Amino acid sequence: MTAGLGSFVEKGGLLVIELERLLQSQGFGSRAECRALIARGRVTVDGSFCDDPSACFSPEGLSFTVDGVLWPYRRLAYLALNKPAGYECSHRPGQHASIYILLPSPLVKRGVQAVGRLDQDATGLLLFTDDGAFIHAYTSPRKLVPKVYEVVTRHLVDDAQVAALLGGLELHRETKPVAAVACCRLSERRLRLTLTLGKYHLVKRMVAAAGNRVESLHRLAIGGFILPPALAPGAWMWLAESDLDLLARRVPDSSDKNWPA
Ligand code: URA
Repeated sequence: MTAGLGSFVEKGGLLVIELERLLQSQGFGSRAECRALIARGRVTVDGSFCDDPSACFSPEGLSFTVDGVLWPYRRLAYLALNKPAGYECSHRPGQHASIYILLPSPLVKRGVQAVGRLDQDATGLLLFTDDGAFIHAYTSPRKLVPKVYEVVTRHLVDDAQVAALLGGLELHRETKPVAAVACCRLSERRLRLTLTLGKYHLVKRMVAAAGNRVESLHRLAIGGFILPPALAPGAWMWLAESDLDLLARRVPDSSDKNWPA
């Protein structure tokens, strides 16, 4: 259980929160566990030790450490992970490791969830948040959020396949043909595809329906947010306001061969 909005009180015109409740809201355990962490001197706030669990702080812009690890306070957490292959987007994976073991435990404890899914063998940009409205906005089929994928194919990509991907393909269990909003052949066996739907195995099903087969699949971008090249496979980062703004934008023309340069 994390601390809710009711944990805030007004002091001198500012909304403040007790340190034990602040840590609880950030995924550091129950209120009693957070109180014990603080009382044992394992916490600093904005650079100073604080062993008083009831000390009140205005949380916006605050940073704290627990056992020397620095954390920014975030009312809601938004993260990007560079997903490696071999992880399932599930808390109860079947055959492979859970993607959640790649995140620090306070983030998992505070309830961040993957925003949509990538297949076990797919790599690249995967978002996480504990903001339910954000998850809805980015996974609802009605919102048409563009996602850019790079695909390595088993067979040579020909013009007919590119035309079919752009023109729309009949897929099993889909009521309407599904088309890519952009499709660019990068080399003989490499495609860049932009899709706005987020259905189960969609890229693999579309490429198969076009007469080819996906050998590897990497998500490069969601909206206008491009996976930062410096984010190594398996690494995660906080998303800043400016990243959230980029996510909400449309992808700059990904049918350009030089995109995203
Ligand atoms: N399409 C797929 O086939 N797999 C993914 O992981 C994402 C999109």
